[in-house]
Amino acid sequence: MVGPNTRSLIVFVALILVFNIATLCNGGSTSRYVRKLAKGDDMPLDSDVFRVPRGYNAPQQVHITQGDLEGKAMIVSWVTIDEPGSSKVLYWIDGSDQKLSANGKVNKYKFYNYTSGFIHHCTIRRLKPNTKYHYEVGIGHTVRSFWFISPPEVGPDAPYTFGLIGDLGQSYDSNKTLTHYEQNPTKGQAVLFVGDLSYADQYPNHDNARWDSWGRFVERSVAYQPWIWTVGNHEIDFVPEIGETKPFKPYSNRYHTPYKASNSTSPFWYSIKRGPAYIIVLASYSAYGKYTPQFKWLEAEFPKVNRTETPWLIVLMHAPWYNSNTYHYMEGETMRVMYEPWFVKYKVDMVFAGHVHAYERTERVSNIAYNVVNGLCTPVKDSSAPIYITIGDGGNLEGLANNMTMPQPEYSAFREASFGHATLDIKNKTHAYYAWHRNQDEFSVEADNLWIFNRYWNPVDESSTSASASA
Ligand SMILES: [Fe+2]
Repeated sequence: MVGPNTRSLIVFVALILVFNIATLCNGGSTSRYVRKLAKGDDMPLDSDVFRVPRGYNAPQQVHITQGDLEGKAMIVSWVTIDEPGSSKVLYWIDGSDQKLSANGKVNKYKFYNYTSGFIHHCTIRRLKPNTKYHYEVGIGHTVRSFWFISPPEVGPDAPYTFGLIGDLGQSYDSNKTLTHYEQNPTKGQAVLFVGDLSYADQYPNHDNARWDSWGRFVERSVAYQPWIWTVGNHEIDFVPEIGETKPFKPYSNRYHTPYKASNSTSPFWYSIKRGPAYIIVLASYSAYGKYTPQFKWLEAEFPKVNRTETPWLIVLMHAPWYNSNTYHYMEGETMRVMYEPWFVKYKVDMVFAGHVHAYERTERVSNIAYNVVNGLCTPVKDSSAPIYITIGDGGNLEGLANNMTMPQPEYSAFREASFGHATLDIKNKTHAYYAWHRNQDEFSVEADNLWIFNRYWNPVDESSTSASASA
């Protein structure tokens, strides 16, 4: 028999336990924002955003990305349909009548019953810093002109603003997100794209015509500013049942990266310097265990980062390490176990990932003490650790990831199942201003924001500077 006194003691102990669990486990805030209902499907192929440019053999799907380690080169890519045409790019400084030219290469590929257009890639080099360049493609037939502004010289004092987009796709929400990025009063100068581009693999036989439509859709931004590419799972396109056994075939043919400049042996992992930032791009779907090419490359890469030259150290990957959504829960765990000690040792400022179709920002935490026998497997606050941002909320085709683990873990500072994008506005070597924008708000509305303090030059706690609008 349990007496009344024992019963009260049990109730008392239970209450203390509940209280402690609530105190220990409840982290930051889960947004209560309620999204308006919107169409979740892809825009039809005859939508104006997919319009084919007029003219014989007119270049389409024009896109640019950084072409070297330091931002003095740009890879210009485009597709022609009727015939190969020219792979030449003409380019000149704004206001100058001296036209320069560079020759590229053309390739095409087959995927099951699809044959690509002629895909051109041309690297233009020796760009002057912080300079507006015009460029033309389609030389000889229908010429199309675009422009971009080269980045400032690599160095600690150049302010620079990055946009952050992931898992974009080509749905109605994708279009809203891209428009919000374009209209954001904080003007992004280059996009850090964290993987999952077209979602063509969601169509029968991975209909590669949807790679083409995606290229035409995003041209309005990526022809004018470089997008820095990270590879995601929707780029794998591994379909042995239709004979497509070479992973990443459409992506590799269409999107080039300057991987050789950082001594990488694969286009899927590489580094660039851009203004005040050193950006390391990792591949979640290529081998990363000990002794693999990616492991050996990253091991050699971190010691090269000179925080006096590039104070900001940013890592991009597709599958997040810290994700408290039930979707894709723990998928980044094996890579975290391999690489997180380096991230803390080398004081990475921020890690951006996609994959989960929602938004989440963490506190600065690490989880590197565990050694199989000691049981120390809970993330702890760590001023040398990065902030992890999951920004796989571009628009995709599969819908929102709106099922969070409860209670919210302590490491999770803010999370919301919405579509949107973010900007990282690096002001100087100590301060950057970060803001996330939902795609259903007015363009200037910041649904989450934070002053970020550099881990190397200003490693103080910034968690009190956040002002999540809907928390
Ligand atoms: Fe993904």
